[in-house]
Amino acid sequence: MSEWNAGYLADVDYTYGYYSQLDPLHMRIAFLYAGLAFPEVATACELGFGQGVSVNMHAAASRVEWYGTDFNPTQVGFARELAAASGARLRLFEQSFAEFCNRADLPDFDFIAMHGIWSWTSKKNRATILDFVRRKLKVGGVLYLSYNTLPGWAAFAPMRHLLKRHHEVMCSPGSGIISCVDSSIAFAEQLLATRPAYAVANPQVPERIRKIKGENRSYLAHEYFNKEWNCAYFAEMADLLTSIRLNFACSAHYLDLVDDLNLTPDQQAFLGGIPDPMFRETVRDYCVNQQFRTDYWVNGAHRLHPLEQGEKLRAQRVILLRQREDVSPKVKGRLGEMTMQEPLYAPILDALADHLPRSLGEIEQAVQDKGISFAEMVRAVIVLIGAASITPAQDEAIAGKAREQTDKLNAFLCNKALYGDEIVNLASPVIGGAVTTGRFDQLFLLARSQGKKLPAEWAQFTWQVLLTQGLKIVSEGEVLETEEENLNALLEQARIFADRHLPILEALGIA
Ligand SMILES: C[S@@+](CC[C@H](N)C(=O)[O-])C[C@H]1O[C@@H](n2cnc3c(N)ncnc32)[C@H](O)[C@@H]1O
Repeated sequence: MSEWNAGYLADVDYTYGYYSQLDPLHMRIAFLYAGLAFPEVATACELGFGQGVSVNMHAAASRVEWYGTDFNPTQVGFARELAAASGARLRLFEQSFAEFCNRADLPDFDFIAMHGIWSWTSKKNRATILDFVRRKLKVGGVLYLSYNTLPGWAAFAPMRHLLKRHHEVMCSPGSGIISCVDSSIAFAEQLLATRPAYAVANPQVPERIRKIKGENRSYLAHEYFNKEWNCAYFAEMADLLTSIRLNFACSAHYLDLVDDLNLTPDQQAFLGGIPDPMFRETVRDYCVNQQFRTDYWVNGAHRLHPLEQGEKLRAQRVILLRQREDVSPKVKGRLGEMTMQEPLYAPILDALADHLPRSLGEIEQAVQDKGISFAEMVRAVIVLIGAASITPAQDEAIAGKAREQTDKLNAFLCNKALYGDEIVNLASPVIGGAVTTGRFDQLFLLARSQGKKLPAEWAQFTWQVLLTQGLKIVSEGEVLETEEENLNALLEQARIFADRHLPILEALGIA
């Protein structure tokens, strides 16, 4: 292993994930729901940006000046390609946390974010990051931090230890991390087949091994096979972060904000009897067996007067991300799947059905005659954001200014779809972030941008791309063998794209 990575796994590049929690716009409604003021974000920083998909999407789709660092040169190279494509204002460094955090030329930040970093980095790096946040996060600024949490990992932590140990002892250095991941998982399966007392006492462990077998190998390598793997209790994180004067604001996972989806009435009553909010949060983690926390912390929480909270909430805008009839009435919280109440959700979705951004104040007016109170409407909006059916929209003026950058970035990404399907997101100036858009839709957009107007032409274009790579469509588990079958399947996809996806991509300023 080379020196620069200081034990962090660098043999395999990370995945190309996009995370909306890292979008400063995403925090606003969550903050207001918690009764807190949010900062206007002009400068933001992402530590350990990986392939840089999130940081690039957020920089291209907003006017925020982004900074970021990652010490993996291959990933930084890719992230910089994206930045060059969009022309957005962002500065991406190829530096370790220790180097970057001590730079003298960085501004103070309104927003500092790190996803998938804290649990996998050394104690020394964590101290460096804490010191950086203490010095560089402005008063009123927000920290987004995710980490592996106890008690949720308690049962599986010994299995993670075993996987890692197997890797260290049994895998030869030259065999490559991906094949080691496979052989360590196979080893775990062999052990579990002997019904060890550990698995009998922790029956969820074999199920989890079955589940991770289907997951992306690069992700597994980084999640389980890294040198550092530190789970923390919420209270431990709270001690650290309050020591640098941060206050817990709220979860960045919107569905976590709604107790009825996650806690039984008994649990809610029990938690309601705990006067200390931080201890309540700790106990809540036991109720839901929390495994991964994604939280916002603020440098000096400013509680809003209820009237101001209402005013600011009413000014927030949201947009519908699917066709109205495609919005699932089901939503999954920690208590399992629940059905949204039709009389509450239908009028809100109807008010957004034309895919124009609407303020919560406008939605309030639209649903008033249905007997829906403002509080009920806001709670439903939180659930719909959590279910990724709607999302916050940014000011029109900013959206207008960001469009040129997102157009350039999206053109680059659609062109990338000629060669693979790693990046499944495109940037939207309307929402200041990205939406999920699969490879075929990206190729249909590319065909459109080359003047092809009809679904049959987009299907033909996509088929030619697949042909050059020896790929065929798989439908219901069967590979479609003939050209005719493949073209028919692609034509069906292209028609769905034209009728259902394209109008939304247009509303989002992507098409
Ligand atoms: C698990 S990945 C997460 C990447 C990205 N935040 C995401 O969620 O997609 C961790 C990232 O942190 C970077 N990293 C780890 N230790 C680092 C260090 N000491 N200095 C700079 N970057 C580091 C790695 O190169 C890797 O890209």
